Amino acid sequence: MPRDLLIACVGALASALIYARAQPPAAPAASAAQAAPAAGGTTSPIQRADSAPKGSLKNPYNDTDAAIVDSGKTLYFGYACSGCHGGAGGGGMCPPLTDGVWIYGGDDDTLFRLVAYGSQDLQSKGYSRKGLENIVAPMPAMGQVVKTDDDLWRILTYVRSNYHGPPECKSGCPAQ
Ligand code: HEC
Repeated sequence: MPRDLLIACVGALASALIYARAQPPAAPAASAAQAAPAAGGTTSPIQRADSAPKGSLKNPYNDTDAAIVDSGKTLYFGYACSGCHGGAGGGGMCPPLTDGVWIYGGDDDTLFRLVAYGSQDLQSKGYSRKGLENIVAPMPAMGQVVKTDDDLWRILTYVRSNYHGPPECKSGCPAQ
């Protein structure tokens, strides 16, 4: 059964990513993006993660802010996170984002980098697997798909707003 789920999750990869890439308007060329942030945006998730020391990234938003949660939800669907993780992050074909199990840690810094770099690059940067979900598959790098760090913080705010695990594990269990 876990094997079937794994195949389903990886199978979702191709369709979800094709969808995600088709959705947002064409991003400016990488060099232009480096020189000047996109209008209305700031920095790309990769630029942000690359420039911040390990452990220092912190979500500027709070998941009690309904307007931010709402915009994060729109972005979560727009970038097709829902294609793998389900509409409310409950799991779908890939691991749930709403329970107390955090694969690499549940703090803001780790989640931001996991989504930006993907699970393989994250591990090559010294982060290691701590928790085990019922499905084990690679998380694709979404840092070239999600346009700005602000978009990613909003998405992660939406993810936090759906959390249903033990309260003490919301940002990573104390034991982790
Ligand atoms: C193609 C499927 C796919 C897509 C699309 C995808 N993910 Fe994932 N995601 C995964 C998989 C698989 C894992 C587990 C990685 C592992 O086990 O190393 C994961 C893990 C995660 C985790 C950590 C969960 C935990 O319990 O620690 C978060 C948070 C996350 N994804 C957020 C997102 C966000 C936000 C997006 C959209 C920007 C997204 N994902 C898009 C497949 C996907």
